[in-house]
Formats: sequence, C-alpha cells, structure tokens
Amino acid sequence: MKVQVCIIGGGPSGLLVAQLLHLRGIDTIVLEKHSREYVLARVRAGVLERGFAQLMREAQCGQRMDREGEIHDGFEIAHDGVLERVDLHKYSGGNSVIVYGQTELTRDLYEARDALKGAVIHDAEDVALFDLASDAPYVTYRHGGKTVRVDCEYVIGADGFHGVSRKSIPSDKLREYEKIFPFGWLGVLSRTKPVSPELIYVKHRRGFALCSMRSQVLSRYYIQVPLTDTPDRWSDDAFWAELKSRLPDEAANRLITGPSIEKSVAPLRSFVAEPMRYGRLFLAGDAAHIVPPTGAKGLNTAASDVYYLYHALLSHYKKRDDSGLDGYSEKA
Ligand code: APR
Repeated sequence: MKVQVCIIGGGPSGLLVAQLLHLRGIDTIVLEKHSREYVLARVRAGVLERGFAQLMREAQCGQRMDREGEIHDGFEIAHDGVLERVDLHKYSGGNSVIVYGQTELTRDLYEARDALKGAVIHDAEDVALFDLASDAPYVTYRHGGKTVRVDCEYVIGADGFHGVSRKSIPSDKLREYEKIFPFGWLGVLSRTKPVSPELIYVKHRRGFALCSMRSQVLSRYYIQVPLTDTPDRWSDDAFWAELKSRLPDEAANRLITGPSIEKSVAPLRSFVAEPMRYGRLFLAGDAAHIVPPTGAKGLNTAASDVYYLYHALLSHYKKRDDSGLDGYSEKA
C-alpha cells in the first residue's frame, strides 16, 4: 500500500489532521491500535479553545459541536469560602471556550472520515516505523493475522503518550523533560446537573477540587487525593462528602449528587519531548507532550500542533515550500 501521509493513532490529533489533509486532496491512512468502540468509551477532556473549534469547522466537523457545545465566557475560583468569577471573555479580548466532550468530537471526526471514505484501520497491531531518516519511510502493522506494509512520504506520530512513534526516535536524538506531581486527581463522571453553569476551581486546605462538566446533564468532578489512593477506596458517598467539604457553602448546598458512571485516579504529569521531528516523522499531541488536566490544555495544545503541521504539509505539497516542516518542532 502507498499513501502520502501515514498517521499513527486515531485519537483527536490523528483524526483531525487526517480529515484536514484529506479535504485538501492529500492522501492519508490512519492506523489505530484499538477498536472504535474502545476509543469512544474513553473519558477524556472537554474544554475547547477557539483555535480547536475553528479547526473543527475547517475540517467540516463543527456542526454538532456548534449546536450542542456550550459556550463559556468565564469560570469561577473558590477560595476562603467565597466564589469569584473570572471573566474570560473580557480579559482575553473577546474569546470564550466551548464545553464539548472529547468523546463527542472524536465521534464527529470518525463520522466525517467515514463520509469521505477515508481509510482508518482499527485493531492495527504491532505498528512499527522504518527508515524514518530516509526519503522513503514505511510503516508496518498486523491485522487479521497478516502483516501489511504502508509506504509513505511522511509519518505523523499521533499515538498518544504510550504510543510507538516517539519510541521510534533514537534516544540520542531526543530530549525529554518530565515532572510528576506528588498527588493525583480522583475524577467522577455522573449523570447529574452541574453545580454551576460554569467551571469552579477550588483552592482549599483539604486539597484542590474542580467542578467541571461535559454538558448540562453530565457532570465531571475532581478532588486532589494522595497518589496511593485507588478509586475502589472511595465510595460515591465518600467522594461527594469530600467534594462538598471543599466547596463554599453556597455551592455545596446546591450540589446534586448521583451514582458515578466513571471513577478513576489520574496521576498528574507534565512531559515534553523534543524535537518533535525525526527525519520524515512528525509527532503531534500527547505523543510529544502531556500536561495535567488543570488548565484543559492537553487537547488544545494537540490542536495547535495539528494546525502547524497541517499548514506545513500543505505548503510542502501545494507550494513546494518546506519552511513550515523545518520550523514545526520549534514552533509547536
Ligand atoms: N499504534 C497505533 N495506535 C496507537 C498506538 C500504537 N502503537 N498506541 C496508541 N495508539 C492510539 C491510541 O489507542 C489512541 O487512540 O493512538 C491514539 C492517541 O490518542 P490520544 O491519546 O487521545 O492522543 P491525541 O490524539 O494526541 O489527543 C490529544 O490531549 O490531553 C489530552 O485528553 C486529551 O487525549 C487527548 C489528547
């Protein structure tokens, strides 16, 4: 098989860049390790900045996001028993964010890719990258017991933090920076109305808490916990009681609780690898960098990579200009 760009990973980064390139006539294939059901069952981020939203529209995937996503012009910070609102719209020169679950936008990207009959290989096992420093790289994977070889001009490594792409770069060519925070976030997803129409970040002597949401009927709450805590050590009741104790009374009193539909402890880690390029391989999104969920930046920095990489590849294919590709790593 021969394509112009082989994309490893069918998360938001890989699907978005595939869709954008496909719409401009650049031939792509997406290799995803898991099934579509598995990818769409992962509970992940949900706050999109303006740049991400614009890319979704450019990728012709923005209709449902614009219809169902919630526009937030601000958020609240709780401290010392009081709530204070930060007016994002006012202080950022007219920007706002859209609350729209990563699961939903991934679903939209898959549907758009289906509509264009773009190739996505699910359950692609043992993906391996070869000859990345040459002009003729190739990728192999196993599917249904057969090994398939994909010859390509460029490889995009959008396979997340645990993916194979970054690990395919010789270690002496890569610098890695990492900070692991000495606590985790216990997150609960519940089918309840959020405590507030906007997000609340809580500073409290018992630890940080965050009241977030995926929609007006789906809430996402977090409390900071010791890294040694596991989700099964926290009953739903204990979780709600602890969250309430960290909220100012006016918020705690109106908190609607319910059964958790997902409960997990996220370790908080910052990680950056550079350069984000090795020969014909370009890393994008979580494959190159991750941040704790604190500022909802993971998905949005991934979108920023996609933006630069998409334009760099367009310049290469449409104008024979490689300056975007050469400057990609530094910029991203
Ligand atoms: N081969 C093929 N696919 C792989 C491999 C592999 N060896 N390893 C991982 N993958 C797939 C994963 O199954 C996943 O679907 O690559 C995809 C990577 O997706 P994400 O981890 O979601 O990363 P990304 O697309 O960069 O998304 C941006 O920012 O902070 C976060 O929540 C945010 O997950 C989001 C991310």
